Amino acid sequence: MVKPIFVLNGPNLNLLGVREPSIYGAETLADVRRRTESRARTLGLGVDFRQSNSEGELVNWIQEAREGACGIILNAGAYTHTSVAILDALNAAERPVIELHLSNVFRREAFRHHSYVSPAAQGVICGFGGKGYELAIEAMADIVADKPVKAAKG
Ligand code: DQA
Repeated sequence: MVKPIFVLNGPNLNLLGVREPSIYGAETLADVRRRTESRARTLGLGVDFRQSNSEGELVNWIQEAREGACGIILNAGAYTHTSVAILDALNAAERPVIELHLSNVFRREAFRHHSYVSPAAQGVICGFGGKGYELAIEAMADIVADKPVKAAKG
């Protein structure tokens, strides 16, 4: 039985739909969860979709992924830009990682241009709203099937 993909969401993402909709869109996290799970289902994969406002809980879940997941899709929210603890956990997990953001962080404030997640990630998806979660599932499906997204390594 293939292990699930952990799709982990960081602080304030529980407020999707009401939080700055001009930036993050009108979809709620439950909507995003549904589209993520449904895309995974069509690819024969399972998803464990979680959200926490706590850095420590995210670290615990990333540690859990080492044994419990085939890969990690992570929207770490603002912890992306601050958390060495999350980077250390991702490196320790030894699982493929895709970094994800709803917004295009590179069109936004300079402090969002630096990511502590990126050095541990195979790739980054940002700027496509909830659709990005489906794109991340597709990319992770290729990675876990060992299809040659590896060719893009640089
Ligand atoms: C975010 C971008 C982050 O800069 C921000 O702090 C978030 C959400 C995104 O999904 O666009 O909370 O990760």
